[in-house]
Amino acid sequence: MSENVRSKIRVLENYVYLDNASSGPLPDPVVDAVKSFSESWAFKGEPWDEGVEALLDVKRLFSNFIGASYYNVAAFPGVTYGLGVILSSLKVKRKSNIVVGSHNFPTSIIMARALERSGVVSEVREADALKWGFGVYEKLIDDNTSIVMVDYVGWLSGHVEDIRELSRIAHDHGAILVTDAFHAVGVMPVDVKSLNVDVLITGSYKWLMSIHGAALAYIRGELLESMEPPIAGWMSIEDSIVKRMIRGEPEFERPLETLKIKLAEDASKLELGTQPLIAYVALREALKFLIEHEATLKYESHTWKLAEELANGLENLDYTLYTPRERHSAIITFKHREPQKLAGELEKEGVKVAARPQLIRVSPHFYNTKEDIYKLLEALERKL
Ligand SMILES: Cc1ncc(COP(=O)(O)O)c(C=O)c1O
Repeated sequence: MSENVRSKIRVLENYVYLDNASSGPLPDPVVDAVKSFSESWAFKGEPWDEGVEALLDVKRLFSNFIGASYYNVAAFPGVTYGLGVILSSLKVKRKSNIVVGSHNFPTSIIMARALERSGVVSEVREADALKWGFGVYEKLIDDNTSIVMVDYVGWLSGHVEDIRELSRIAHDHGAILVTDAFHAVGVMPVDVKSLNVDVLITGSYKWLMSIHGAALAYIRGELLESMEPPIAGWMSIEDSIVKRMIRGEPEFERPLETLKIKLAEDASKLELGTQPLIAYVALREALKFLIEHEATLKYESHTWKLAEELANGLENLDYTLYTPRERHSAIITFKHREPQKLAGELEKEGVKVAARPQLIRVSPHFYNTKEDIYKLLEALERKL
């Protein structure tokens, strides 16, 4: 790994950082952009245009990154917020069921239950593919299913789902496939067209190596057209301030139409008000950094292999893996009785991993090295 990349990630001066699934470290260009945006605001007043430009640049960069069109990408202040707006804008078949992955991050399961409680769907079916096998989806999805919601990579299990196949099953039954790809985008190549998904969402602060406050969602064209957001705001309309900027028109010369509102035709119809623009200033630099250093292109040849090396090393030390080896991603999790204690001790030895209930989660990214993995394994060996 080139020192050029690592020298721009300052956390590496203090730690062997193997906790990218919790939050990514901020590279220098991201830190500099945040500083310069706040300084600009402090000394010259709000850098509104600069912030909106960053938001638009991020949408462009991100859509290229996942093989989508800019038109189909909406921005939200967080993954949960985005999922909330998207799910509540869907026209859902009456008395239908929603199928969710048991290994999803809890937010989507909680949201499915909320849809059930409010009567939008009649039933939530949880699919535990690791317990029942991947055939469980075929069993649970039927013609009464309206939404299948499965995370691309399990946040704890670290397993990769066959999203393309899940889309096929969902579509065969007239359902849509929604995937939270927070643990995929930024670390592995993701292409929405080949996955054939209806909705794919991700956030800024993990594998994309930026700060909190930004999430981006791809929404397939026909679905987008059919969506009826129950709420709208000054950024949801076709003649919003941002749309005026894009068209090169003066932003504030005409009043905003509030009587006969026409929602935006593109995915911004799901956006409501001012975004945390500083998060987009940061994310623009983070995306450029990942693209410049070909982070996702290194997945198969490097990052995945680090995870493989780690899994081998853990098994040699007799740890029990929680992550199914045959489907692992860059996340490897192993069982431990006192995860909080162990993670604390490792941190004292300069290695950052995540403690989760009964588990330790290790998550290398493209900038990690074999030496990082060996340092963790050596530290673990000393604890045995
Ligand atoms: C897969 C996944 N989705 C969503 C979230 C939460 O996203 P947000 O904090 O943007 O709502 C997390 C956080 O760890 C996550 O792992």
